[in-house]
Amino acid sequence: MYHHSEFDRAFVVDRAQRFRDQVNRRISGALTEEEFRPLRLMNGVYLQLHAYMLRIAIPYGSISPDQMRRLAHIADRWDKGYGHFTTRQNIQFNWPKLVDIPDMLDSLAEVGMHAIQTSGNTIRNVTADHFSGAAADEIADPRPYAELIRQWSTDHPEFQFLPRKFKIAVSGSPNDRAVVKSHDIGLRMIRQDGEIGFEVSVGGGLGRTPLVGKVVRDFLPVRDLLPYLEAILSAYNSVGRRDNKYKARLKIAVQELGIEHIRELVEARFAEIRPLFDGSDQEVLERISQQFAAPALQDDRSTADYDAARDADPVFRSWADTNLHEHRHPDYAIVTVSLKKHGATPGDATSEQMRVLADLAEKYGIGDLRISHEQNVVLPYVHRADLAALHAALREADLATANIGLISDIIACPGLDYCALATARSIPIAQQIAERFDELKLEHEIGEMKIKISGCINACGHHHVGHIGILGLDRAGVENYQVTLGGDGTETMAVGERAGPGFSKDEIIPAIERLVQGYLAVREDASETFLQAYRRLGPDPFKAALYPAEQKAA
Ligand code: HEM
Ligand code: SF4
Repeated sequence: MYHHSEFDRAFVVDRAQRFRDQVNRRISGALTEEEFRPLRLMNGVYLQLHAYMLRIAIPYGSISPDQMRRLAHIADRWDKGYGHFTTRQNIQFNWPKLVDIPDMLDSLAEVGMHAIQTSGNTIRNVTADHFSGAAADEIADPRPYAELIRQWSTDHPEFQFLPRKFKIAVSGSPNDRAVVKSHDIGLRMIRQDGEIGFEVSVGGGLGRTPLVGKVVRDFLPVRDLLPYLEAILSAYNSVGRRDNKYKARLKIAVQELGIEHIRELVEARFAEIRPLFDGSDQEVLERISQQFAAPALQDDRSTADYDAARDADPVFRSWADTNLHEHRHPDYAIVTVSLKKHGATPGDATSEQMRVLADLAEKYGIGDLRISHEQNVVLPYVHRADLAALHAALREADLATANIGLISDIIACPGLDYCALATARSIPIAQQIAERFDELKLEHEIGEMKIKISGCINACGHHHVGHIGILGLDRAGVENYQVTLGGDGTETMAVGERAGPGFSKDEIIPAIERLVQGYLAVREDASETFLQAYRRLGPDPFKAALYPAEQKAA
């Protein structure tokens, strides 16, 4: 786990101090809201439907127990006792008072956290696989590279006023758990002839124009990472459109100019920029890597208790079957703690739950916690001998829902309950779907299923890459929900296809139920997932399930 250096600390404290002055001037009336806006956005402060909102970065999703406790403290002292973990490995507080935000930032700075570059047209929080360092399938730990990118991009003078926001994600495994191809730059670690490097894709993105990133470089050696990123950013800065906000992302430049053209620009800039890097970035990387050295793991404990607990307790077994992932060490497991209890708001954690998770990470998880883009919390290092005790403690804290990867593990943006841009509500739809399938007791039978919901075309809830995507729209003042099918947020990324006309808020839950029942009726057997069945059969049987009346009429 990375700890802020003296430089980081001084920088963050200084920024918080400057923002305090700006807030004071806003409160005294010396600054209008319009003048204040760019200043607050530089510090992660939005003006939402009901209140200001503070977005705090959790770089590559990595957070220590002390940092988690600090979030709990902030939630209690200055918000309403909870926080919302997002798809970009941030946490959002929905109810701060403007006057309190400087104190919140000071409090964060004490534990090496901040809200810098969590908004604005700049390089946003660098995201990464939430299983980094622990996954059995990992080629290399992506976090040192993500941290190097964070240090390079934070306050980089050239990249503070890009044409539009800019997002970078890094994955260290062949199985992509960071949706890399939906980012402006996606970095996928690969091994070629024994050497580790990156496959680099550019121009991915969701939002109103969803596009899958295209590979701009098949293999980038590790030592070229920063100069190559700098070349991409510099090319984007020159060709990215500034005349139209909706066409300003790198993805539009790639779409309009073509990947060949972009590649030529990037490689030309790279040739110019490469000699300017004198190797000191590699020294920094070396120092960072030491902080991410693999932790010492226990080889001398028996895992017999785990097997016994599995045999004795079906509730534990069900949780273990869904919420554990394979660890690089056979005696350990990666535990995903669901923040998707049936009927709860996806991604919300109370301050009490944050504290419990911090304590459990210390007791059973060598002090490491992650936030996943799927809005859950991960304990990446738990010895199998501790799993039964961990599960019992999670149950007591109402955190033991056994639904990771299942139909109620829904990604949902805050939607019209909080967001000023929303056209429909997302949270209640997620809650109702989860509750309905819980009632039907079909969740485990359905198997792997990704439902993702956004409250407007900005796609913060990743609906384009949901096996079933739900997009909330406004139709003449009435909430309407459009369904997309066949989206995929993994290494085989695909954007979902629109199924047909949207559904009212009363129709959408029964429609999803018909769709899922339709899948159960057509799948080959229980091992064929919804996505596989969709790819095998195409959209027709799924549309027929969604729109039965129209099929009869036709
Ligand atoms: C204050 C609340 C929020 C506002 C105003 C907001 C605004 C936006 C806008 C305008 C876009 C479209 C960007 C573009 O296409 O250029 C966007 C995209 C996105 N936002 Fe949000 N958002 C908010 C909250 C969230 C939350 C809560 C999440 C996570 C749950 C999130 C994650 C994302 C993601 C993943 C994208 C898609 C990235 C892409 O287009 O490539 N945002 N957001
Ligand atoms: S998708 Fe729309 S409604 Fe949802 S958080 Fe993003 S901007 Fe708000």
